[in-house]
Amino acid sequence: MAATELERLSNVEPEPRSLSLGGHVGFDGLPDQLVSKSVTQGFSFNILCVGETGIGKSTLMNTLFNTTFETEEASHHEDCVRLRPQTYDLQESNVHLKLTIVDAVGFGDQINKDDSYRPIVDYIDAQFENYLQEELKIRRSLFDYHDTRIHVCLYFISPTGHSLKSLDLVTMKKLDSKVNIIPIIAKADTISKSELHKFKIKIMGELVSNGVQIYQFPTDDEAVAEINAVMNAHLPFAVVGSTEEVKVGNKLVRARQYPWGVVQVENENHCDFVKLREMLIRVNMEDLREQTHSRHYELYRRCKLEEMGFQDSDGDSQPFSLQETYEAKRKEFLSELQRKEEEMRQMFVNKVKETELELKEKERELHEKFEHLKRIHQEEKRRVEEKRRELEEETNAFNCRKAAMEALQSQALHATSQQPLRKDKDKKN
Ligand code: GTP
Ligand code: MG
Repeated sequence: MAATELERLSNVEPEPRSLSLGGHVGFDGLPDQLVSKSVTQGFSFNILCVGETGIGKSTLMNTLFNTTFETEEASHHEDCVRLRPQTYDLQESNVHLKLTIVDAVGFGDQINKDDSYRPIVDYIDAQFENYLQEELKIRRSLFDYHDTRIHVCLYFISPTGHSLKSLDLVTMKKLDSKVNIIPIIAKADTISKSELHKFKIKIMGELVSNGVQIYQFPTDDEAVAEINAVMNAHLPFAVVGSTEEVKVGNKLVRARQYPWGVVQVENENHCDFVKLREMLIRVNMEDLREQTHSRHYELYRRCKLEEMGFQDSDGDSQPFSLQETYEAKRKEFLSELQRKEEEMRQMFVNKVKETELELKEKERELHEKFEHLKRIHQEEKRRVEEKRRELEEETNAFNCRKAAMEALQSQALHATSQQPLRKDKDKKN
């Protein structure tokens, strides 16, 4: 037998022996200690509401928790989907619940709905990332950390009676590995009983055929297995929301009043509101919180750590070593850094060479231009010089002609002044 195999066998822990106690010790109070600690610490629960504007999200939340949350009516003109979280401190008996309701504002209002799911997925991932960062801290404080991871996504389906919209299918498909989805048919009072039955079957068929995983109420805990199994068959719940109180018989009940009758929110013959409240809050809230941690967050954490290079074991099934992984990552990072540095240096040298060449070319062009201008200037100078000489010659010639003319004129004058004297002489003779 190989040495490693022997080592492996010798490392197998022996089965613990069962012993009986001689009397009461007291560790049977452990569950009570756990309850007491949890109650003191308080709980957090985060609900994401996804559904088109005006489908009844806020009304349903108010109806579910029997209170009035701050709500802001969304416009139909949002450029993109925006996530709006609001946190409230609720108390029932001595139990404190930090409830966060996250609204996907503007969902389904854009002309191009291709990326409508993205802000929702990014928001869910961001909450996982925050938690992971807290976990990875040297000094972590998960005890009083405000956990904002989404525990359930209530997906509001329009009561069209037709098939699911492709936006609904795409969004649910993108979300199903990240969050527990409970699909609900909103405003169920606007659809008839027989249509609703067919609509539910159609929706479930489409979800199955498109491989969309919705949250299944757990059936492994005996105490709730039966009710959960029955409720799984009722999905998607068809709900009606209202905070208005209407008198029915001699009781005030929450209902929607119409000219032809009253739809009672908490009447199981009228809608599935009670089923939803029962499943979401009263029976499975802890399971939703746990599934979020053990399934969805675990998947996110595993992918993220693998992306960072961490593994449970290497190829030869050697146990994972944080130190070795860190060293390997560090080396990888340093060589990558060196490569980038060399690349940048080379780029810089090339850039300098290019600029030098460009400058030389510019200098040569300037020199040529200067020589050209110099030649033009000399040519011009020569021509001007020639012109000046010609003009000088012309001036000289003109002056000569002028002098000759003046001489001729003075001769002529002289001659004319002599003529009367001669005539007088002649007369005297
Ligand atoms: P935004 O936050 O603006 O996207 O709207 P919302 O989805 O929160 O809808 P909201 O609860 O504000 O309800 C919009 C309208 O629908 C209101 O007039 C409600 O009274 C009405 N409404 C809400 N729930 C129901 C319902 O179950 N049935 C019917 N018929 N109307 C409902
Ligand atoms: Mg609202």
